[in-house]
Amino acid sequence: MLVSSIADHMKCPRTRPAQVPNPDFQPPYPSFSIRFPENVSQLVMAVIGAQHKSASDAADGASRATLTAFLTSRASTTLPSFFEWASVTDNKGFYNITALAYWPSKAAYESWAEESGFRAWWQALGPDSPNGWFLEAFFPTTDRFETLFNTDTAREGSAHMGQCMSAAVKEHGYWGSMRDRIPLSQTDGLEGAKAAPDEYRSPPEDVTPTGRVVIPGRKNLAVIRSGQDWLDTTPEERTLYLDTMHPVLTRGMDFLRDHGEEVGCYSCRFSEVVDPKTAKPDGIDRTFGLAYFDELASLEKWCKEHPTHLAIFGGFFQYAKKLGNNVTLRVFHEVMVLQPEQQYFEYVGCHPSTGMLVTIC
Ligand code: HEM
Repeated sequence: MLVSSIADHMKCPRTRPAQVPNPDFQPPYPSFSIRFPENVSQLVMAVIGAQHKSASDAADGASRATLTAFLTSRASTTLPSFFEWASVTDNKGFYNITALAYWPSKAAYESWAEESGFRAWWQALGPDSPNGWFLEAFFPTTDRFETLFNTDTAREGSAHMGQCMSAAVKEHGYWGSMRDRIPLSQTDGLEGAKAAPDEYRSPPEDVTPTGRVVIPGRKNLAVIRSGQDWLDTTPEERTLYLDTMHPVLTRGMDFLRDHGEEVGCYSCRFSEVVDPKTAKPDGIDRTFGLAYFDELASLEKWCKEHPTHLAIFGGFFQYAKKLGNNVTLRVFHEVMVLQPEQQYFEYVGCHPSTGMLVTIC
């Protein structure tokens, strides 16, 4: 029996129509959403990154060790529920190593920042630091958050704060189902402040540090983290994934990174999850795209209409067909639509194409 992705305690009479094509719609395959305890009303996902000129500049692990000390500090009683490391070399050739950390409330995050010494350290960072740093923190209330997993056994990101995985949900398998899974969409159109073309300033060619910059939050910014995990695939599926899906996905992520302004995407990082000790992806076999869109409608439009996601989407069905639908690749996403005060972007000594810096540089 299918259940709603929206937990019972978050249901309310709809004033906005659902996107589902008809009330009897049956998704062609199962997918699942995380259920959070009722007393969890706001989550935190923080992307805390160090930006180095190259991977070899980060090889001593010093920036990672600095952040690890805060994220595991015994002085804090509210350590993250979960954190892991990911790396990406961006389109300016810089190597970014990020901790992706989750807390079950904003209060827990704030007290961690204080007790662990992270905040004092962060505020003291100056332009003399050997590398750049960035903090992108998101504080979605659960009515502005949705997840979708193609398996009910995956433990990714916010799942570490969940009570359990739902049974198979109704709201998927059609365009617009992402919106239908967001509880607030029952009564709110989630319109954002659509970015004007000149909001994406062309970053100067010479990549110079910009000092410390705080970027204000934007109305209903849409954030997606879409992940892929091929660790437990059979050798046959693994080859198929790496030869057919991964290259198409990389092209889609490169498009959002390099031409995002065409579709309302400010920033996209396609990262590899890495080993906390070695910072290498070997033996982990997980990636994720983390992208920031000016509004949910822009993300929906890119998925539904742009050749890059259509190629990913179409490629996946070919892929499933070749495997006789015995897919063991795990895919999931977390999507949040944030009020301005539910976002915090700060950059210290990063190049101007980093994250939301593109909106002001
Ligand atoms: C939806 C495949 C990567 C954004 C979907 C769906 C599939 C799919 C099958 C429909 C899910 C359903 O409703 O049952 C894939 C595969 C990927 C991938 C196989 C990688 C191997 C991405 C990435 C992004 C993305 C990297 C964005 C950064 C979305 C969004 C939807 C979606 C937002 C929901 C659209 C809506 O409901 O309106 N994708 N995708 N996908 N995908 Fe992808």
